[in-house]
Amino acid sequence: MSTKTSKSNPSNFASMLDDLRKTNRQINPVLADPEDFLVEPNAAPGSLDAKAPKRLQELYPDIAHYRKIPTELYYSHDAMEKEWEKLWTKTWIIAGRASDVAEPGDWFKFDIGRESILIVRSDKDTVKAFYNVCKHRGNQLVHEECGKGAKSFICSYHSWMWKCDGDIARVTDRNTFSPELLCDDLNLSKIHCHIWGGFIFINLAENPVPFDEYLDPALRRALDAYKFEEWHIVKDVKVTVPANWKTNLDAFAEMYHLHQTHPQGVLATDDHFGQYDFYKNGHSRMIVPRGKVSKRQDDHETINDALRSLMEDSGVNPDTFTGKADDVRDACQKAKRQGLSPFQVDYTNLSDSQIIDTWSCSVFPNLNLNINAEVALIQRFIPHESDPDQSYYHITILSRKMNTEKRRPFFLEFTYGVDPNQDISGNFRPELKHTTVENSEVGFLLDQDLQQIGQVHRGIKSKGLNGVLRLSEQERRIQQFFAEYDLYMKDLK
Ligand SMILES: [Fe+2]
Repeated sequence: MSTKTSKSNPSNFASMLDDLRKTNRQINPVLADPEDFLVEPNAAPGSLDAKAPKRLQELYPDIAHYRKIPTELYYSHDAMEKEWEKLWTKTWIIAGRASDVAEPGDWFKFDIGRESILIVRSDKDTVKAFYNVCKHRGNQLVHEECGKGAKSFICSYHSWMWKCDGDIARVTDRNTFSPELLCDDLNLSKIHCHIWGGFIFINLAENPVPFDEYLDPALRRALDAYKFEEWHIVKDVKVTVPANWKTNLDAFAEMYHLHQTHPQGVLATDDHFGQYDFYKNGHSRMIVPRGKVSKRQDDHETINDALRSLMEDSGVNPDTFTGKADDVRDACQKAKRQGLSPFQVDYTNLSDSQIIDTWSCSVFPNLNLNINAEVALIQRFIPHESDPDQSYYHITILSRKMNTEKRRPFFLEFTYGVDPNQDISGNFRPELKHTTVENSEVGFLLDQDLQQIGQVHRGIKSKGLNGVLRLSEQERRIQQFFAEYDLYMKDLK
């Protein structure tokens, strides 16, 4: 059978997008309950691609209740206050990357809600987290984003000083204080922290559930295969968003919106079925098959531009390929396994699905890891300090070490907007940028989400919605989120 191949310029995605938008296209409906769908149907029990052992219904017997979500949770100050007291002060949250505190005295600041936290490497083997506050009159101790090689931290107000391990080093004019004022603990107030995969997690609880218990071992094992501790930052952007952190989080929890919000995505992503897996403590995985034309599309033969790019990333020559569009995923998977990818990455530890698909893994409450074999998007949805109608969307793009002499992964430039001239070897750490949705700098794909997030949030507040959101079974990760969220709100966690 002859194969149709696209004649257009593979890099001309803008015109491809225009074509998709111009067409008054048929949107084929989802055909079946994706509950039982497996990306790798033959995945052996216990393999990384196997489904999570428990289904959503088993983990949350009253899950049906969470098909309707009260909109008030997205915008009320009362909900925001309760979240601070019952959720943010009890859960494990990513503060940053261990590579940013590589040497003793290296530090960075992490702000979440009403708190600011100082992360510092106090010695070669120890990273510590403290409330970023002077124990005298409450001035914030550090104001900059980060620093290198500090020997101590000095308050800019009255010059009290602390060592990097948090111990008090100086109370200026100590003799002018009544002794009883200085007899309690003047060391910086400690916060629990844990490093996993090169990520520094913090927990504001006094006695938090241990991290290894919090993150389900089955999910952790699957993620460990990527060896994130060896990956490096190639982009770091924090966007101020005119929407609640949950409005934004929801936008990245399902594939239901792909065909409409990201019409280009249907050319090389099977949004029709994804494998959804649910783990205890609110975590989940969504496996998004790549190299497959969506079943919402009718043409499953033509090798379109998006498929071509994926093939070139995988070491398959699209000009000599004799298969159809529906054969591309398998061909790319095999080529990568055979070591044909131009990036010369060792994929040995990764499963068949991990090699080719996007794994979107959520760690409750506010972390989403969107992982491909070479590049990962780390998304954090951070509450605003005082306004439920605003939040921060912090994206960090990680890359593994790879050979980029012949080409760079298509995702990096096109999807995430990494400058094609930027050094992505890991020798250069790009600065954290603060942006707004008007000029988000998050790249083409994520900007499609952000451009409508404000209008979604405004709509959620409308009387016309009658106070509830309704969720389909393609949106079960959002159902799970609120089922877990409610356990915290009811003090059951
Ligand atoms: Fe999206």
